[in-house]
Amino acid sequence: MKAVELTGEIVRLIDQRRLPGSLQHVEATDYREVAEAVRNMTVRGAPAIGIAAAYGFYLGALETARRLGPEADPRDLQQPLLQIASLLKGTRPTAVNLFWAIDRMMRRTQELVEGKKSRLSIPEVVEELRREAVAIHQEDIEMNHQMGRFGRDLIPEGAGVLTHCNTGALATGDYGTALGVIRAAWEQGKKIHVFADETRPLLQGARLTAWELVQEGIPATLITDNMAGYLMKLGKIQVAIVGADRITANGDVANKIGTYSVAVLARVHNIPFFVAAPSSTIDLSIGSGDEIIIEERKPEEVTTLGGIRIAPEGIGVANPAFDVTPHRYVTGIITDRGVVYPPYSLNLRRAAGVKSARG
Ligand code: MRU
Repeated sequence: MKAVELTGEIVRLIDQRRLPGSLQHVEATDYREVAEAVRNMTVRGAPAIGIAAAYGFYLGALETARRLGPEADPRDLQQPLLQIASLLKGTRPTAVNLFWAIDRMMRRTQELVEGKKSRLSIPEVVEELRREAVAIHQEDIEMNHQMGRFGRDLIPEGAGVLTHCNTGALATGDYGTALGVIRAAWEQGKKIHVFADETRPLLQGARLTAWELVQEGIPATLITDNMAGYLMKLGKIQVAIVGADRITANGDVANKIGTYSVAVLARVHNIPFFVAAPSSTIDLSIGSGDEIIIEERKPEEVTTLGGIRIAPEGIGVANPAFDVTPHRYVTGIITDRGVVYPPYSLNLRRAAGVKSARG
């Protein structure tokens, strides 16, 4: 089961809006349809939208190549692909993986068409771009397994593990980030019990995480978001693990709305709070979480539930899709390169292999 797949010239996506009621796919045959699927959350989760966008970019390259013809100068691909990249980037603002994947595809295009030794034809360039998108997908799966190997030791035997939103196979290339770490601890034979926040307003926890946990047979209990504090007080939760949409250079973490509340509650109850995220989620170009653009979604997601109105007409609504957890609440960040601990400003750069200003 893959949330995103490239089959020939079709990007096949699990329609996550319909889960858990039915498992259906949407087949995108051009980049505009991929962009729409990201925007309307057919596909969601930071790594998954990056992968979908990379495949969308490839479909855009195919279409452009057909229009230009096989004999055209490959450099003529660049301008139309910049526009396609900009359309794909305009879909959702917060998860950096989307921008990371598209920028990587654009850089690859540049290398292929401008390189001094480059004598590739247009069809050859397009084939190389297909390979790059597939590599982005494969590397994501490998990074998730790495995080699982590093993170599983942080989950004590017999622990109650709180998680928020969906960070599993559905949110990634496969396996998952935070849910991948939980999966790895379970596969290791640890007797754990997961508490999944339902994650209002779009219920990624209730609809998607609960579905993945049931499929895997991992013991789990679904709770509404406002129950987490009480369960912590009762001593049922020993560790909290969440994913991320963007981690800034100082270790601040943007993730699904409600994550900040979990982090603060965990601190008050002396419970470790871990974030699991691949390198593609770490954005060293941004100093702190204050600079992250937080997506604001439509009011109907809050005023209705399952299509039924639950609030009066005329009420004002706030619907930020993400929040930012300050780094001081984060016990550690589980990455594909190891677990990073404070001071994050130093250690995230080290993990990324970036030298400090002083060398
Ligand atoms: O709005 P969504 O469903 O795309 O938000 C997803 C999350 O916030 C996840 O926690 C995050 O992307 C990490 S997924 C591995």
